[in-house]
Amino acid sequence: MNKILEVNNLTFAYDKNLILDNISFEINEGDFAGIVGPNGSGKSTLIKLILGLLKPVKGTIKLLGKDINSFNEWSKIGYISQKAASFNTSFPATVEETIAANLYPQIGLFKRIKKEDMKKVHDVLKVVGMEDYSKQLIGNLSGGQQQKVFIARTLVSSPKIMFLDEPTVGIDNKSQENFYELIYKLNTSMNISIVMISHDIGVMTEKANKVLCMGNKKLIMHTNPSNTKITEILSEIYGDKMHLLLHHH
Ligand SMILES: Nc1ncnc2c1ncn2[C@@H]1O[C@H](COP(=O)(O)OP(=O)(O)OP(=O)(O)O)[C@@H](O)[C@H]1O
Ligand SMILES: [Mg+2]
Repeated sequence: MNKILEVNNLTFAYDKNLILDNISFEINEGDFAGIVGPNGSGKSTLIKLILGLLKPVKGTIKLLGKDINSFNEWSKIGYISQKAASFNTSFPATVEETIAANLYPQIGLFKRIKKEDMKKVHDVLKVVGMEDYSKQLIGNLSGGQQQKVFIARTLVSSPKIMFLDEPTVGIDNKSQENFYELIYKLNTSMNISIVMISHDIGVMTEKANKVLCMGNKKLIMHTNPSNTKITEILSEIYGDKMHLLLHHH
């Protein structure tokens, strides 16, 4: 099986504050992996390390078979950050301009969009069900709609793997379900590997084939866990708050 991401003996600290202590795991082509763990357990930090935004103290990270220190195919890597939902809503760009900007990383928004590129833009908008909004200003969309546009934005450069950091915070339950269905579709019909931080027990039991469980500076990888196992893992992490998670489903 093709390894998309390999993390080996990774250790990380902010100054002297040890966050990750010698963790290892791998993501294969086609995986849908969920990352779970309490607040402050280092989930967002781990993704930032993988994206090269932070430097490890020790250990190696390989993306698409290449060490991240020499990796340069960043357009093959999608990332939806934890703060995407609080995007600056006064940004004066339309949906299609926002997406096209990802096709012109050097030139950015102000280049005229070529016809064949515009087709790509509209194709990805169709995938996320936002084709009717292409001329709207991004700032005028709801949080859930913006999130779909951000997904489309990463899709336009044909990613192999997509990292999502709590992508449904601030999105209502019904839209969350639609959103998870969309991510699942990218995974199953476009063969994009998914690594998603989420506290949602439903998406873990229904969609994920791997659960990466973080806590106490360690990471434990569970491959093809049963629903009972996932529920066990989450109740260990969240204890009393578990009923809140279950309440949604
Ligand atoms: N830039 C930073 N400088 C110093 N410490 C940081 C920094 N960012 C995060 N931390 C600390 O590192 C730890 C891990 O943070 P991180 O954001 O990775 O947690 P998380 O698992 O994503 O939490 P949450 O579920 O709340 O998003 C926390 O204790 C946090 O306070
Ligand atoms: Mg976080």
